[in-house]
Amino acid sequence: MRQKVMPPPALEGQVRPPGDKSISHRAAILNAISRGAARVSNFSPANDCWATVNCLRALGVTIEGDQGELIVQGTGEWGLREAEDVLDAQNSATTMRLLAGLLASQPFLSIITGDESLRSRPMDRVIEPLRLMGAELWGRGGDRLAPLVIRGSQLRAISYRLPVASAQVKSALMLAALYARGQTIIEEPAPSRDHTERLLGAMGANIEVKNGRIALGPGPLDALDIAIPGDISSAAYWLVAAAIHPRARVEVLSCGVNPTRSGILSALLSMGARIEVANQGLQGSEPVADLRAESSTLRGREFGGEIIPSMVDELPLLAVAAAVAEGTTVTRDAAELRVNESDRISTTVAELSKLRARIEELPDGMVVHGGAPLHGARCSSHRDHRLAMTLAIAALVAEGETTVDGAEVAAVSYLSFWQDLYQLSRR
Ligand code: S3P
Repeated sequence: MRQKVMPPPALEGQVRPPGDKSISHRAAILNAISRGAARVSNFSPANDCWATVNCLRALGVTIEGDQGELIVQGTGEWGLREAEDVLDAQNSATTMRLLAGLLASQPFLSIITGDESLRSRPMDRVIEPLRLMGAELWGRGGDRLAPLVIRGSQLRAISYRLPVASAQVKSALMLAALYARGQTIIEEPAPSRDHTERLLGAMGANIEVKNGRIALGPGPLDALDIAIPGDISSAAYWLVAAAIHPRARVEVLSCGVNPTRSGILSALLSMGARIEVANQGLQGSEPVADLRAESSTLRGREFGGEIIPSMVDELPLLAVAAAVAEGTTVTRDAAELRVNESDRISTTVAELSKLRARIEELPDGMVVHGGAPLHGARCSSHRDHRLAMTLAIAALVAEGETTVDGAEVAAVSYLSFWQDLYQLSRR
């Protein structure tokens, strides 16, 4: 699908972002192995989350409902059944990596694959630590790539320090730890999103988190009704759109603002964005707020170190804010972007350059010299959902028309992105 975007005279209105994708995966997986039934409301309609639901169904879990509300019938600790066919994680690394951790302990054989992009992404980062726990799993290309073959076995606890901050790897190990003998200890070099820890705590797991160190022992989980907060990674498109557009006022309702996820908010505020954080509260175990953003004058900044994992998915989008800002913005310590749905450093630089942004690659980040006016152009999503949406936001301030080829991939994380964009654009 090809989408054309023209800069609208104004951007105005309210958006309710879809349910958080990361929390949706976890709500489905953890409730699937819990004792009892749970209602999960505002479940993300994103393709990635349905990949998780379909894998769980193939493993014998009854999950009913749609339109944002699911009823998950927990099977208890040992209720999963061998799937009749290969499990398909589609484009979703979270599905593949988290399920690898869970299936490593289950007494049957599982094979899990994904689309071309997912089959090229590194899986050794879960295979290696899971093997230290005694797991029997293999992958293509010398145990680096999917499809993965997993023969469930009795696992043992380990003490493991992640080489790179990754919530997917951390969560895979936590799911394995629920079934391992002994207490597993996990540490990471910088804080990554902590949704799994929060949910496990609320579901009665034997978990303790102190100074970033997780100690988790085996034990059953209690089913938990969960109302999923709005996805800040989806909301971020509207925050940047409002900040860079000269006539904009956008309100994002009921958005998750977990500090391990809200780096984009701090980054934009530090660049001078006018964003008000209102009605702060807790929804279950997650902080939420309404965010009101409006036209701003942005200044370039340098970003690196601990803030990076808390906005890793938003770094291509931040480059758009940086292109409009005065001065230079540098992002570093973000080499992880090279192993995302696309090599997000090179695809972001290539595509924003087509809009005449002054942007350069670093091995682990980007340099953006702000202030050069953007011009509409024909560009490509590279089949990467976040890049498709990033280009649409840049197009809102680019002179003339921009065409985004492969625009349908936005549905991987944000099903109604193009409708919401249309609804906020005033003609
Ligand atoms: C996610 C973790 C992050 C993020 C991804 C979702 C998760 O990946 O990029 O979009 O839900 O755990 P890493 O764990 O590889 O950093």
